[in-house]
Amino acid sequence: MAVNIQWFPGHMAKAIRQFEENITLVDVVFEILDARIPLTSMNPEVKRISGDKPHLYIMTKRDLADETRVREWLQYFASINQPAMAVDAKTKFGPNAVLDKVNPILKDKLAREEAKGMKSRPIRAISVGVPNVGKSTVLNRLVNRRAAQVGNRPGVTKGQQWLKSSDKLELLDTPGILWPKFDTQEVANKLALTGAIKENAFSSDDIALYAINRFRETMPEGLMNRYRLTKDDFELSDVDMLLKITQNVGMRDDYLRASDRIILDARAGKLGGFTLDSVADLEANDDTND
Ligand code: G4P
Repeated sequence: MAVNIQWFPGHMAKAIRQFEENITLVDVVFEILDARIPLTSMNPEVKRISGDKPHLYIMTKRDLADETRVREWLQYFASINQPAMAVDAKTKFGPNAVLDKVNPILKDKLAREEAKGMKSRPIRAISVGVPNVGKSTVLNRLVNRRAAQVGNRPGVTKGQQWLKSSDKLELLDTPGILWPKFDTQEVANKLALTGAIKENAFSSDDIALYAINRFRETMPEGLMNRYRLTKDDFELSDVDMLLKITQNVGMRDDYLRASDRIILDARAGKLGGFTLDSVADLEANDDTND
């Protein structure tokens, strides 16, 4: 059964409008991407709306991703002069790491301001990204909330505030939420498996079968160890492997419950680190769009 794709044009239009207003207030945009789906979690509208504003990709969940692929993505971004970093936002991340990336991008702009006699000031940033990608986690790691509120500033929508990350960096308190571009079943599967779309938008067995299909080649040990599969089980079809896992985890024939388990295990990294988008996928996309 196909994933029931939920699309909210009204919400999207509002989010884009808000982002268009906020973009005028900042020096740099942080687009938060999930390192497990760097391409799928990217919203091309962000680049369009950001225009000439510098743009930093922060790939979160590096600890849950495939390190080889993450490095390929970082190399790719470097090759097109696109600032990017990949982090475990939950633990190994803070303002200095971001400033190391942002300072070189804004050096010239700030030097020009200083040459005109303007007072030195903190860099202002907004973060934006699709749901569940780690926007709040990034914000919380960058900002000490107790000491953070900077006070009202002209142009900021009522209810929004600047938060102080350090003397050198301030962030708009509300990250922009944008919806992912969602045009194929494959994209929907990736979003569902990584948790970017809600549980009620898909059937868990479809997503578990997608996970089995992707992981049986790339992470066989993860599946074997977690679900006591044997090498022979890898001769089974995806559906039969799901039924085998269902039995092995003691759920008899309740393959829907087993599917939920597989999805949660995958999201928590219990089957191994994975990155479902490769740089080659991007190149293939570009070819199709030509
Ligand atoms: P959002 O604002 O973009 O919607 O995302 P949010 O920060 O709420 O993060 C979504 C989930 O992803 C959270 O897990 C968060 O802890 C987790 N997360 C964010 N960045 C990273 C990372 O770099 N590594 C890992 N391992 N996890 C990350 P949750 O299960 O919803 O909450 P919690 O149980 O962690 O509190």
